[in-house]
Amino acid sequence: MQILGVYNIKGGVGKTATAVNLAYLAARDGLRTLVWDLDPQGAASFYFRIKPKVKGGSKKMLRGKKELDDLIKGTDYDGLDLLPADFSYRNMDLVLDGAKKPAMRLLKLLRPLSYEYDLVFLDCPPSISLVSENIFQAASALLIPTIPTTLSLRTYLQLLEFVDNNKLDHLKLMPFFSMVDRRKSMHLEMIQELPKRHSEMLASHIPYASDVERMGVYRKPLAEYARKGAAISAYEQLWREIKVANSL
Ligand SMILES: Nc1ncnc2c1ncn2[C@@H]1O[C@H](COP(=O)(O)OP(=O)(O)OP(=O)(O)O)[C@@H](O)[C@H]1O
Ligand SMILES: [Mg+2]
Repeated sequence: MQILGVYNIKGGVGKTATAVNLAYLAARDGLRTLVWDLDPQGAASFYFRIKPKVKGGSKKMLRGKKELDDLIKGTDYDGLDLLPADFSYRNMDLVLDGAKKPAMRLLKLLRPLSYEYDLVFLDCPPSISLVSENIFQAASALLIPTIPTTLSLRTYLQLLEFVDNNKLDHLKLMPFFSMVDRRKSMHLEMIQELPKRHSEMLASHIPYASDVERMGVYRKPLAEYARKGAAISAYEQLWREIKVANSL
């Protein structure tokens, strides 16, 4: 079982869209896939039409009194399951803080699932917190949707520094450009320049596209209603690239 975090310190960069669409494509390729919606806003749960509530709340779950297995819901798609968000995840930092080795909690919870799933996507909330430290410990790679602006570059550099300072050597960083608008000169400039300095940047870009925005209207992964077009092609290319890079 491989665990991939979809993460950025910044909000609204396309993390959830990435987790939902890549998980769908992974399942379509025959990988047994789980999405863990770790954001209290429950956007991934919303896209999969699953109620965000985890019965009994996340406190019980993180203390290990509830098997993760019981909380997992099937989606409408074969081979694709979801662990829903819970509004009490707002308190997750506090709960984790009380645990022994708090940063390893998430990984420990996921371990028993390793025979059931080939791939887990963690849809992460923005910001650096104890929750994100858990994600960094649990994941083998972070997929980092990055809008091509100077501000995004700054937050990416902050993340690099954090990873470095905390000796998270196991964690492969896989940034890629998201919400790319080729009419914007800053976007074009960043796309040209950034990969020269950061060879870890993936080659695939996700364009800014109304097809992606419509996921909220249809409440489905993109491939279910837009089988053709720039946006789905971009996600398919991104998935192929990630698959190869992580030997999936
Ligand atoms: N490539 C895209 N083109 C156009 N709109 C997009 C694209 N990707 C995401 N969006 C839209 O932008 C908004 C934010 O996307 P998304 O929820 O995936 O970001 P996020 O990083 O998960 O946000 P948050 O930090 O709040 O969790 C959503 O309304 C989504 O529909
Ligand atoms: Mg999100």
